[in-house]
Amino acid sequence: MNTSRPIRKAVLPAAGFGTRFLPITKAIPKEMLPVGDKPVIHYVVEEAVAAGCTDILLVVSRDKASIQDYFDRAPELEGRLRAAGKEAQADELVRIASQARFHYVRQPEMKGLGDAVWQARDHVGDEPFALLLADTLIVDRAHQPGRGDAVAALMAAYAQTGHSAVAVEPVAAERIHRYGVVGGREEAEGRFALNCMVEKPGPAEAPRILRLNGRPDPGGWAFAARYLFTPRIFAHLARTQPGKNGEIQLTDAMAALMAEEGFAGCRLPGRRLDIGDAAGLLEANHLLAGR
Ligand code: G1P
Repeated sequence: MNTSRPIRKAVLPAAGFGTRFLPITKAIPKEMLPVGDKPVIHYVVEEAVAAGCTDILLVVSRDKASIQDYFDRAPELEGRLRAAGKEAQADELVRIASQARFHYVRQPEMKGLGDAVWQARDHVGDEPFALLLADTLIVDRAHQPGRGDAVAALMAAYAQTGHSAVAVEPVAAERIHRYGVVGGREEAEGRFALNCMVEKPGPAEAPRILRLNGRPDPGGWAFAARYLFTPRIFAHLARTQPGKNGEIQLTDAMAALMAEEGFAGCRLPGRRLDIGDAAGLLEANHLLAGR
């Protein structure tokens, strides 16, 4: 595969029930919960676009129509705003809908993240693509969201190695059971060749990273919600059986892909804000308020 061709497709899974946010998610998708005056998913789409993705596939489920409405044009509303002299507001609505080509596919049953990514196979076809989990924001040092640095780092790793790549970050021991955790060797500052991936391990099963100084890192390193895959991921997803928690785990297909092709890890540039629960959403609002 020609690794110098730019990667244009991004997949954003947004199909989950959002049970950690009930009761509001009975009526409003968690991806549409507000951070400031915009929904969470707005920032994730801007991040993909900033990294150069022009084709965005949202994996949705029933009751997620508001996500489609948000990224669609609203000619009547735009017309009313312009008639009232509110050109800037109208322009911003047009910009949100025109920043990329938006596509949608439905995940018929909630069978896990691996199954959500599997729904993207026909749209993605035989190309590498970026995957951004829509319940996580990445902010830079100045707490600016929507920058494409994490995905850009994965694209650079792919261009160099020809391997799929994933953003990783150190996590405290007591949080390791919440993430996919990696093992491998640091090859250059912040760049890893991965050789082990375990979804939500217990403390004894967590793999380790060998740092540049040749010593194992005493802590764990976890996936940080941004990925770049070669299309071979679909061949492995097709064979992936239910794993941890009875779900089709993306991590299991990634481990098989790693054994076949190799897999790069990139230290996450910036900080992740996990919007998966109310505390994370509040923190994001606190940090990003007024932007
Ligand atoms: C998912 C993945 C996990 C990853 C996490 C954050 O878990 O299964 O490997 O570490 O996202 O990127 P979830 O948060 O959906 O339980």
